[in-house]
Amino acid sequence: MSSKDIVRVGVIGSGAGEFHLKGYGEDDRAEVVAIAGLDTDRVVKLANQYGVKDTHREYQEMLARDDIDAVSVAVPNFLHMPVALAAFEAGKHVLVEKPLARNAAEGVAMVEAARAHNKVLGVSFQRRTRHDVQLLKHAIDNNEFGNIYYAKAWWMRRSGIPGLGSWFTSKEAAGGGPLIDLGVHVLDMLMYVMGNPEVHSVTGTTYAQIGPTGRGGWPGRGRFEVTAEQPYEVEDLASAFIRLKNGGTVLLEASWASFTEMVDDFGIQVYGPEGGARIFAKQYALTDSLEIYKNFGDTTQDSKPRTFAREGHGQVIHSFIDAILNGAPMQPSGLEGLANIQLIDAIYKSAALGREVILDEEIAQISE
Ligand SMILES: NC(=O)c1ccc[n+]([C@@H]2O[C@H](COP(=O)([O-])OP(=O)(O)OC[C@H]3O[C@@H](n4cnc5c(N)ncnc54)[C@H](O)[C@@H]3O)[C@@H](O)[C@H]2O)c1
Repeated sequence: MSSKDIVRVGVIGSGAGEFHLKGYGEDDRAEVVAIAGLDTDRVVKLANQYGVKDTHREYQEMLARDDIDAVSVAVPNFLHMPVALAAFEAGKHVLVEKPLARNAAEGVAMVEAARAHNKVLGVSFQRRTRHDVQLLKHAIDNNEFGNIYYAKAWWMRRSGIPGLGSWFTSKEAAGGGPLIDLGVHVLDMLMYVMGNPEVHSVTGTTYAQIGPTGRGGWPGRGRFEVTAEQPYEVEDLASAFIRLKNGGTVLLEASWASFTEMVDDFGIQVYGPEGGARIFAKQYALTDSLEIYKNFGDTTQDSKPRTFAREGHGQVIHSFIDAILNGAPMQPSGLEGLANIQLIDAIYKSAALGREVILDEEIAQISE
């Protein structure tokens, strides 16, 4: 393999950044040459663990290097846009963690910058690479259920606020709470299996009933330890009713903390005239999670296809490297990340205004 067949990568961020280090390790067309992060001890530890030569503190030092072709951006949400724009300016391809950005306007700027610099922009929605999601997409593409007219997506935790009092609970730093943290994942899974239907409008609501009282934290997650006390400014539960342009509707729910039978469970469900299906990932289960409902004779039968335990950043990174080296389509693409954050932005807007929001009219769009 010649050096031009190798993509030289920098990973920015040492929390979720570790998933990227693992993922690049699974693709021999990629070489991670540096890690950046403000938490030097952890950055150095990861560099040793994954055999990475160089470390940096600020991301700007890394972007100034000319021996890096691409970066993974795994920093708090408020930094996604500025880091991505600086990376494109420095001639790098960008794989950004979810959400694409804090809101639609930032997402638009990122997609437009990627186009202007002719670089790849991808988003780490790795949960769509789950085997159950892939099987369901295949079934829907094969028209096994007819046109999906109703669907649901949810991610509900009983007590799982990440880093109570950290950047996660700052509106400015995170852009929102569980909707922009967890809801984006299940929304991506659902829109992906449904073939990215266009959205007409949304009605959203948000609540903060538990987080502001200091309850609902996620115990035992040391990586999110809090250094500075930050008031609880985001929602702890959100729900939305989404109208699609094709006449279908979607119900979305996301919570970090709520009194529910669920512990930390997510899923999607689709309803068509000829059948339906549900993926229920109970506490992140990767197997035994897909159910199909179809008629056998006159009765509706439940079936449970076997699924392999497969998901992860490795698959997204494989697509990223393919897009860079071979011009293959990036999956999940920056445009998909933008459609996702446009919808999230519209839900927050609807919740704030107390009325329905029409996407094409009220949410930032790219200029074609
Ligand atoms: N895809 C997933 O399943 C998944 C899982 C967890 C987090 N995430 C996403 O990853 C992103 C980061 O979340 P996290 O949980 O890793 O947060 P974190 O707080 O654990 O880590 C943030 C990292 O960013 C670094 N950073 C901050 N400012 C920087 C700067 N100026 N220069 C260089 N590095 C800087 C910090 O030092 C730290 O290493 C978020 O967008 C989050 O939504 C995705």
